[in-house]
Amino acid sequence: MLSKYFRPALLEKIAAKAGTPVYVYSQELFLRQVRAYKRAFRGLDPLFCYAMKANSSAGLCGLAAREGFGADVVSGGELYRAVRAGFKPGKIIFSGVGKTPEELEYALKTGVLFVNAESFEEVQELERVARCLKLRAPMSLRINPDVDPHTHKYITTGKLGSKFGVSFAEAEKIYLYAAASRWLQPAAAQFHIGSQVHSARPYALAARRLAAFMARLAAAGVRLEYADVGGGWGVKEGSEMADPALLARAIDGVFAGTGLKLILEPGRSVAAPSGVLLARVIYRKRGGRKNFVIVDAAMNDLIRPALYGAKHPVALIGKGRGPEKTYDIVGPVCESGDFLAEGARLREPAPGQLLAVYSAGAYGFSMSSQYNSRPRAAEALITGPSSWRLIRRRETYKDLVAPEL
Ligand SMILES: Cc1ncc(COP(=O)(O)O)c(C=O)c1O
Repeated sequence: MLSKYFRPALLEKIAAKAGTPVYVYSQELFLRQVRAYKRAFRGLDPLFCYAMKANSSAGLCGLAAREGFGADVVSGGELYRAVRAGFKPGKIIFSGVGKTPEELEYALKTGVLFVNAESFEEVQELERVARCLKLRAPMSLRINPDVDPHTHKYITTGKLGSKFGVSFAEAEKIYLYAAASRWLQPAAAQFHIGSQVHSARPYALAARRLAAFMARLAAAGVRLEYADVGGGWGVKEGSEMADPALLARAIDGVFAGTGLKLILEPGRSVAAPSGVLLARVIYRKRGGRKNFVIVDAAMNDLIRPALYGAKHPVALIGKGRGPEKTYDIVGPVCESGDFLAEGARLREPAPGQLLAVYSAGAYGFSMSSQYNSRPRAAEALITGPSSWRLIRRRETYKDLVAPEL
């Protein structure tokens, strides 16, 4: 269970100092997942590009960068954060379905490993920008391998009909176009089938399709250097990630002996278990036959339960009163969809008591907003058995209005 990385006495201390809501990350657990990937794939020696969208906090990204990870970024803002956090530009790949000309220029000037394009029009725009800068743009294509990852429809990306990537047939035409261009350097082919994928089978299928495609392309004269199998390895809420050795075995068989360098883009599996969201109980009440606990964190802090029906384990810090009962844990935001957990079994909490929402390290803070004019939460990093530091201060009311003119 993850609670051993988040000792109650330390959580109490952090909440007392940093206030609530606060995201608390465990450095030990984050590094444990990073190193589990490195161990599982040591035979293949891939480049890991941490998917910053999962959690772009400099405090965590810096840890990944120091372990030799690169980064997968999907906006100019993430690229800016990646470089600032210490990722080497030559290990950064720039993905995303709608990069603007300004973002493409920024990526090329930064010297990213490659731009992962998602349409012919984007490739033509990349070529135009490269010509203006008088350099050759290293590029990849995100290919939609038409594989069902059996996950939530909002995070299924590798089936034809989704907005992501291009088909193999279209990719072939685009690579031939790129290979003939003075301003484009075809470097890689990529897929990302979805997120929260719990079986290695769809990866193996997509990887076989990708490898066969790359071999056909090489026969046509376009030799790529990198095969990028994206991210998406699943992690169950409340647990550490499943052993990535399963994934390594599925992929190893496909790319071994091809001479291609492998890239992976894990995000959630590294970050999710490493964080908890700490909130304080404000009120309790009954509504119909339901028991509600109203806490000071809300859907603007953690939107996953409302958006995907994600079920995060919750636990009281300290003892509750009486026998366990069933509670909905809700926040102060004016939406019926504002809940952090439904049907949680807890003993009765007291107002002021702390409550921890587990597996909140990925797509938690990074998807948070100021909705209802709620300043965003603080973030803290546990660095040792009894040591921690603030890695992001809580926003203030002034921060809410600072950009307004
Ligand atoms: C291109 C790409 N790579 C990697 C990821 C990371 O996925 P996950 O956080 O599930 O590992 C995503 C997630 O959406 C993605 O779109």
